[in-house]
Amino acid sequence: MASGAIFLLLTWCASVFLLFPSAHAQATIFTSTIDGKESTTFSFPKFDKSLIQLTANLTFSSNATITQDGLQITPDSGNRPEVFLVNQAGRVFFTSPFVIWASNSTAGDGKHVASFSTVFKVNLFRSNLNKKVKGEGLTFVVASSSVGVEPPHGSHGGYLGLTNASTDGDAGNRFVAVELDTVKQPYDIDDNHVGLDVNGVRSSSSAVSLTPLGIQLAPTNTTADDGSCFVWVDYNGTSRRLLVFIAKNDIKPTATVINASLDLSTVLLGRTAHFGFSASTGTTYQLNCVRMWNMTVERLHDGSASITKNASLSGWKIAVAAAAAAVALALFAAVYVLKRRRRRDGDDDEEQNNVFGKAIDFRKIPGLPKEFDYLELRRGTNNFDEGMKLGQGGYGVVYRATVVGDDGRSVDVAVKQFSGANTKGKEDFFAELRIINCLRHRNLVKLVGWCRQNGRLLLVYDYMPNSSLDRHLFGGSESEILNWKQRYNVVTGVASALNYLHHEYDQMVIHRDIKPSNIMLDSAFNARLGDFGLARALDSDKTSYTDMAGVTGTLGYIAPECFHTGRATRESDVFGLGAVVLEVVCGRRVSGNDDGCSLLERVWKLHGGRRILDAVDERLAGEFDEVEAERLLLLGLACSQPNPGERPRTRAILQILNGAAPPPDVPPSKPAFMWPAMPVALEGDDGESETRSSSSSMMLTSSSSSFHVSTSPRRRGGSRKLRAEQVSSEHGVAMV
Ligand SMILES: *[C@@H]1O[C@H](CO)[C@@H](O)[C@H](O)[C@H]1NC(C)=O
Ligand SMILES: *[C@@H]1O[C@H](CO)[C@@H](O)[C@H](O)[C@H]1NC(C)=O
Ligand SMILES: *[C@@H]1O[C@H](CO)[C@@H](O)[C@H](O)[C@H]1NC(C)=O
Ligand SMILES: *[C@@H]1O[C@H](CO)[C@@H](O)[C@H](O)[C@H]1NC(C)=O
Ligand SMILES: *[C@@H]1O[C@H](CO)[C@@H](O)[C@H](O)[C@H]1NC(C)=O
Ligand SMILES: *[C@@H]1O[C@H](CO)[C@@H](O)[C@H](O)[C@H]1NC(C)=O
Ligand SMILES: *[C@@H]1O[C@H](CO)[C@@H](O)[C@H](O)[C@H]1NC(C)=O
Ligand SMILES: *[C@@H]1O[C@H](CO)[C@@H](O)[C@H](O)[C@H]1NC(C)=O
Repeated sequence: MASGAIFLLLTWCASVFLLFPSAHAQATIFTSTIDGKESTTFSFPKFDKSLIQLTANLTFSSNATITQDGLQITPDSGNRPEVFLVNQAGRVFFTSPFVIWASNSTAGDGKHVASFSTVFKVNLFRSNLNKKVKGEGLTFVVASSSVGVEPPHGSHGGYLGLTNASTDGDAGNRFVAVELDTVKQPYDIDDNHVGLDVNGVRSSSSAVSLTPLGIQLAPTNTTADDGSCFVWVDYNGTSRRLLVFIAKNDIKPTATVINASLDLSTVLLGRTAHFGFSASTGTTYQLNCVRMWNMTVERLHDGSASITKNASLSGWKIAVAAAAAAVALALFAAVYVLKRRRRRDGDDDEEQNNVFGKAIDFRKIPGLPKEFDYLELRRGTNNFDEGMKLGQGGYGVVYRATVVGDDGRSVDVAVKQFSGANTKGKEDFFAELRIINCLRHRNLVKLVGWCRQNGRLLLVYDYMPNSSLDRHLFGGSESEILNWKQRYNVVTGVASALNYLHHEYDQMVIHRDIKPSNIMLDSAFNARLGDFGLARALDSDKTSYTDMAGVTGTLGYIAPECFHTGRATRESDVFGLGAVVLEVVCGRRVSGNDDGCSLLERVWKLHGGRRILDAVDERLAGEFDEVEAERLLLLGLACSQPNPGERPRTRAILQILNGAAPPPDVPPSKPAFMWPAMPVALEGDDGESETRSSSSSMMLTSSSSSFHVSTSPRRRGGSRKLRAEQVSSEHGVAMV
């Protein structure tokens, strides 16, 4: 049976190959300007491995290939067809991203959305073995650049290589696809339809059956019909309508199969997107093949770009401009050379002395990740385009960027650009590079590289597609609400990261700034504690205390003793965790709520009245586990104990979270805050040395991200040095 299938599939492929030997058509890619609109056009008349453009300009997921002059989005016949062809998912994207919208228009909503038009020939071919079955389908997809080329885990079957059971329909998916679906799912109209998929595979509202049009996707009788058809997708960025046409031959019909109103700028985030295909097979399978692809996309630039202006300059103006530019360039070069010379003459060493207390070449820091070229980061961020900006803070700006990963595929990263080459910027950069680089934990945001060129300082992190926790808790209607399982998982993740920082890493690290805007969510909504700068960069939170002068008002995350000591300790980190736990369960901010009542007071009151579950976020509509919810609420209260010594340690917290220990005992009303507090007990319970516990109370008044305690006499420079020394000393406290 199995070998029969291979034979037949190979025969089919061979016949296609022979039937359409197609003259040596070349793939072409060019940019043109029509009616003042610049656009990029590419044309792949066929897919031949020998075409250099295919490897450079197309990016393949691991299960997609080029064979038999086609893009096999899911594999074609392999050695063991029944194993190899079922439950597959694949994607192919045009490698370069396109800017999908620019906010530079004066009309309408101020957005200029790119138009595009494409035509491709698909060939869906069902198994010769069993003509009754086919599956599952192929899509043309426009996806935000944050969507990687690898299909998500579990995206085979009805998920068409786009989503999976846990992510389908999430607004965070950020894609629009035109599906050619050959299997009827419970939500589908039939097993032969075209539909529009926005962030999910349920296309029912837009789906159109192809049967009345006389078109069969993956037909039964492949003698009469080889399963090819042409699909046109036209998008008008002005009218924001998407049209789909389909035909058995390459003559575009006049009637649309889909004519839908669609604003891509609201679906796709961050302005740049990739075009391509995705497909899947399930327990039933077919070949999902694209045989030709033409596409034209309007090119948008950053609104500030001046390229277009140059074009309108008349001849002599250009000459003058060119001469001026040459002079400027010469001057610039001279200054640059001078600067470099000076730098080589010891500037660098000096700056390192300042930062680390002794001369250390930071390039020799063990395990330092990739050094990026500035130009690559500049290109990847579209010249630090406003639309790629993820956030901003005192230290600089964070951008999203697309760069080439180790395996040659493009990956998304977050790039933190430290503002200026001033001393403070440099110190922030070095301190962060040195500390973050050593930390390895699955619930921490990972540093993937750095760049330091001509005074520019950048750190490169894993990109977190789901932004930060606060957006999902308090983000308003446009961001989705986390379900109970996700919330519990987030709390466990943060606790686990904190336990690592406090107890598992060689040096004790105090985070000092635990709050939802510093907790990033990866694609599967796992928590990743952010480093301070990045986290603050993503911070849209107006109640942030980090930038406030003095300590006043809405400061729910700062432990009360900090106002007296100006010191962060493990206990104060745990206080921050407690605030996060309460916010996650209740879906409210610890402070600054409309009713003016602190969340902590409220939960404690409900606990005293034995109605603690009333505190759970109403938006969950009762969909939560009561035992878990009570456990988290009690834990949140225990961590929020005013007296630091009463708060549980992270190890105990993890045991409570995984059910190995009972929920903590919490007094029915909030204990009074005592100052000075009883000294924090020495940590005999977890076997740590006294050195540790005494160093846990080091001063931390004024590094870039710490809160400013107004009573503190320390200024930046001084404590910066202190911090640097601590970093390099054996028992020191490194602060993130
Ligand atoms: C196609 O690939 C070539 C070679 O890497 C590259 O120079 C060119 O910019 C790419 N074209 C587009 C439109 O991405
Ligand atoms: C790719 O193919 C392998 C081997 O058949 C399979 O185990 C894996 O699940 C496939 N990956 C996807 C994303 O379908
Ligand atoms: C398939 O189509 C061919 C050509 O139209 C026809 O001769 C043949 O009988 C069909 N086979 C079946 C099984 O219907
Ligand atoms: C796009 O829509 C606008 C406004 O409806 C219209 O003026 C324009 O001609 C359309 N463009 C194309 C290429 O159809
Ligand atoms: C698409 O629908 C709009 C609004 O109903 C209509 O004005 C337009 O003519 C339609 N376009 C095509 C090509 O059918
Ligand atoms: C695709 O583009 C090529 C080159 O511009 C052109 O010759 C061909 O006719 C186009 N194919 C279709 C189906 O439009
Ligand atoms: C906005 O950008 C587009 C694409 O580059 C350009 O065609 C258009 O003229 C710009 N509009 C304004 C008002 O600058
Ligand atoms: C869905 O995909 C995400 C990654 O995108 C993955 O983490 C998660 O485990 C997947 N869910 C299932 C049910 O496979």
